[in-house]
Amino acid sequence: MSENKTFTVDGRNIEFQDGDTIMDAALRAKVYIPHLCHNPEFEPHGSCRVCIVAVNGRHVAACTQPAAQGLEVDNASQAIMDQRRTLLQMLFVEGNHVCPGCEKSGACQLQALAYYTGMLAPHFAHFSPQRKVDASHSEMVIDFNRCILCELCVRASRDLDKKNVFAIGGRGISSRLVINSPSGRLGDTDFAAEDKAAQICPVGAILPKHRGYDKPIGERLYDQKTIDVVDDVAVHRKERDERG
Ligand code: SF4
Ligand code: FES
Repeated sequence: MSENKTFTVDGRNIEFQDGDTIMDAALRAKVYIPHLCHNPEFEPHGSCRVCIVAVNGRHVAACTQPAAQGLEVDNASQAIMDQRRTLLQMLFVEGNHVCPGCEKSGACQLQALAYYTGMLAPHFAHFSPQRKVDASHSEMVIDFNRCILCELCVRASRDLDKKNVFAIGGRGISSRLVINSPSGRLGDTDFAAEDKAAQICPVGAILPKHRGYDKPIGERLYDQKTIDVVDDVAVHRKERDERG
């Protein structure tokens, strides 16, 4: 009789299947590992590093690290949470994330993770970049100031919508989200509010028009439940669709 393959996360046994990453198996077992650029509906991307865990003492991204028999994963020590908080602080100062005025406030994964990791201040000096807002589309708007380059819209538009509306241009610190149209404007693409790419942004960079602040404070996605409770796989998908 073959035994189930398992590893541990903070001492808890997690079963896994061949081909699973640590994130795949943990989410299936409803063990939350913080993540931003990962979405279980898409291939892992491994860019935000917020899912950092320590595996047998070595720091890895849980969304790209293959699961293996007997691994001991630290997902909750103070050192790991401190590193995640530092990564989030860097993301906050790299763009212009003004939570109190943002339409996504209360339903933003970046903001919710900041709360989850106990981030009280940005800590680093703000870059205060001056980026465009593209309101050329009749139904959707993009505020590039809030983009964290997770590439979820790129993957969704390419892999599910089959439209390739988005791409990443530049390299390294000059990387930026670009629109694939001759004018570079969203209004000159076939992007639609029903597209998966229109509903997947974890922050307030891609938003529907005419619906800002439609849910009162106190009734938004992360107002009553913290992100670790909301973001298990099933709930993750359902609530995303509902808020879409
Ligand atoms: Fe990610 Fe949103 Fe930026 Fe697209 S617009 S790369 S989904 S943060
Ligand atoms: Fe793993 Fe972003 S969630 S690197």
